[in-house]
This record gives sequence, structure tokens and C-alpha cells, in this order.
Amino acid sequence: MGRISNSAGKGKIETKSSYLTNSKIFKWFGDRIDLDGILEFMYHKTVPHHKFSIWYYFGGISLYLFLVQVITGILLLLYYKPTAESAYESVQYIVTQVPFGWLVRSIHSWAANLFIFFAFVHMFSVFLMKAYRKPRELTWISGIALLFLAMGFGFSGYLLPWNQLAYLATNVGTNFAGMVPFIGQWLLEFLRGGPEVTAATLTRFFGFHIAILPGITTIIITIHLVFVQRMGMSTPISIEKQIAEGKTRKIEIPFFPNFILRDIMAWTLALGLLVLLASLFPWELGEKADILKPAPPHIRPEWYFVFMYQTLKYVPKLLGVLGFALAGFIWVFLPFLDKKSNLGQRNRLYTIIGVVVIIYMVVLTLIGYFAPGE
Ligand code: HEM
Repeated sequence: MGRISNSAGKGKIETKSSYLTNSKIFKWFGDRIDLDGILEFMYHKTVPHHKFSIWYYFGGISLYLFLVQVITGILLLLYYKPTAESAYESVQYIVTQVPFGWLVRSIHSWAANLFIFFAFVHMFSVFLMKAYRKPRELTWISGIALLFLAMGFGFSGYLLPWNQLAYLATNVGTNFAGMVPFIGQWLLEFLRGGPEVTAATLTRFFGFHIAILPGITTIIITIHLVFVQRMGMSTPISIEKQIAEGKTRKIEIPFFPNFILRDIMAWTLALGLLVLLASLFPWELGEKADILKPAPPHIRPEWYFVFMYQTLKYVPKLLGVLGFALAGFIWVFLPFLDKKSNLGQRNRLYTIIGVVVIIYMVVLTLIGYFAPGE
């Protein structure tokens, strides 16, 4: 394994096995892009190791699933046709005629859902470990932006096969937007490309899904990862306390190769789960959208919106929308409100709030699926 020393301000690598660094190709690239500096950074970076370390893998899994989305999405683009006349037929062609087309489509759809699921897991684990506290406020805020973008990907992608279920779910979803005070009607028409969900909505959603969202997401993921790299991984307050009281030792493992190999193992497990779900439960296509067909009862949006949809059945719509807007606002600026955690003190109140939010979201989602009511 390589060791690095920095002599006279210029990275110089001393390796026991200098097989890699002595190779001609390494030297060629090294002269042009300072590979020594990159290696030096990788060898020196460490990750805290403690009983909660498992939660450090979920950001990486989200990143991995995003990359799977990009690759499978590009493959689908080779055959997909974004018009109301031929979108459904083109997806039908992909899943019946194109070799492995059904698998690529199924992986793309499952990965979209797992991406959102693991981004939620990552967010709540970061929340419960209070990793948002100073100096990681901006990492938290950029993370929330990523979660919204991930939901935007799911929402816009869902309509693209132009099937009946997606058509109805898009009606429901865009109706949410219409409830926002003052700008609701404008927002609804902006999303739909008119007052109703029509072929114009499909064109718009296609644009959002393959150009606007990927562009913005790539930029924000880069910013998020730069923040994570600059600040390093945080250690939970409880572990910091135990270290200070001498009850446990501070253990750090090298990022390269120890942590990255574990990351790769987590990605392999995620890939296994993905392929299992995609091949055992291929994503269905359903019937082609028929704008004139009446909506069946108990229609609901995608699972990650169900808790909001269900809540709006129990409280006046305006109150519900304002409540979610306020809760979202507080959630974004949480690192600035949780003063106690910022001082390195345990804050049980915020832990309880996080647990209550998780229970609320899970229970309301389950009700939405199993006892939706009116
Ligand atoms: C949706 C796409 C996302 C991707 C691809 C992503 C990626 C990552 C990665 C690779 C890490 C380092 C490893 C880890 O801590 O798991 C990380 C850390 C972090 N992420 Fe995310 N993340 C995403 C969403 C979020 C969300 C929704 C939040 C919270 C609102 C968030 C907040 C953070 C914070 C605070 C850290 C630092 C953790 C620490 O220092 O202990 N991220 N993210």
C-alpha cells in the first residue's frame, strides 16, 4: 500500500509497491493532472468508525442508484418517443421487442423508487445522528434540494409511458400544486402546459425529466459531495461524549481502500436488490391513457406523496397545504434552529420530533394504501 509524503510543497509518493506510481501511464497522466495530489488526498482521508457507522453508506447508495438511473435512462431514450400518440406504443415496443428492454425499463423504474426510498433513509439517518449541525448546515440544505429533485424525477418520469394510471396520478399530483396559495393556478398550468393534463403535459414532463432535472441534479450532487469531502464525515454527539469521557476510543478507518471497498459492497447489495425486484416484479405498463375515461375511486399519487395526500383528506385543504409548507420550511432551516446540537449537547426533543415525523409518514402512507377512505 502506498504512503505519501509532501516534500517542498509538492506531493511526492513513496510506495512499498510502487507498481502503479512507477508505471508509464501513471507518470504520463501524473505530469498533466497532478495524480500525486489526488492519491495523497485519498490516502489521508479517514472515516469515523463506531456503532452507527452503517448509516454512512446510504448517501453512497443513493448516489449509486442515481448513476443507474442515468445509464438505464439513456438506454431507454434510444427507443422512447415523447408524444401522446406514440409514447405508450414505444414503451410497449421496448418491453416486448427490444432485447432486454423489459429489464432495462424495470430496473429504471425500480431504481427510481429505491433512489427516493434510500434518499429518505439517508435524510432521516443524518437527522437522527444530528449530522446537520454546524458546520454541515449547507450539506443538509443541498441534501433537501436533492430529495425534492429526486421526487421531481419520479413524478415527471411516471407520466412518460402515457398509461391510464400515470395519467390519473399526474392529475392528482398537479392538483396539489394548484392548492398552493396565490401562485397555485399559475403553478398548475405551468406544470400541465395548460389547464388540463394533455399531450402538452407529456412534452413538458419529458423536458423536465431528461434535461432540466438531470442538469440541476448533477450540479447539486457535485456541490453536496464537495461539502461532504471538505467537512469529512461527522461523529454523532453521543459517540463524541463517550470519547471525551474515555469510555471508548476514537477509531478512524482509511477512506481508501477500506471505506470505499465497503461502499462498493453496499452498492453490490443494492444492485442485487434492484435486479431481484426488477426481474421478479417487472414494472407493469397497464392500459394506454384515455382522457375520456372516468377516474376509478381511491386513486392515489405515488407512494412518496401519499402521506400528504391522505392528510389533505382529514384537514381543510388550504390549512393542510400551509401546514406542509411551514413544516418544509422548518425542516430546511433545522440546523439553524437546533442550537443545543450546535453546541455539541444532546437534544432529545429533536430526536423525538424526527421519530414522530417518521411514524406519521409511515402510518399515513399505510392508511393511504390499506384503508384510503374518501
Ligand atoms: C438524493 C440524493 C443524495 C445523494 C446522492 C447524497 C449523497 C451523499 C453522500 C455520498 C454522502 C457521504 C456518505 C454518507 O454520509 O452517507 C452524504 C452525506 C451527507 N448528506 Fe447526502 N445525499 C443525498 C441526499 C441527502 C438528503 C436528502 C440530505 C438531508 C436533507 C442529505 C444530507 C447529508 C449530510 C448532512 C451529509 C453529511 C453526513 C455526515 O457528515 O455524517 N443528503 N450525502
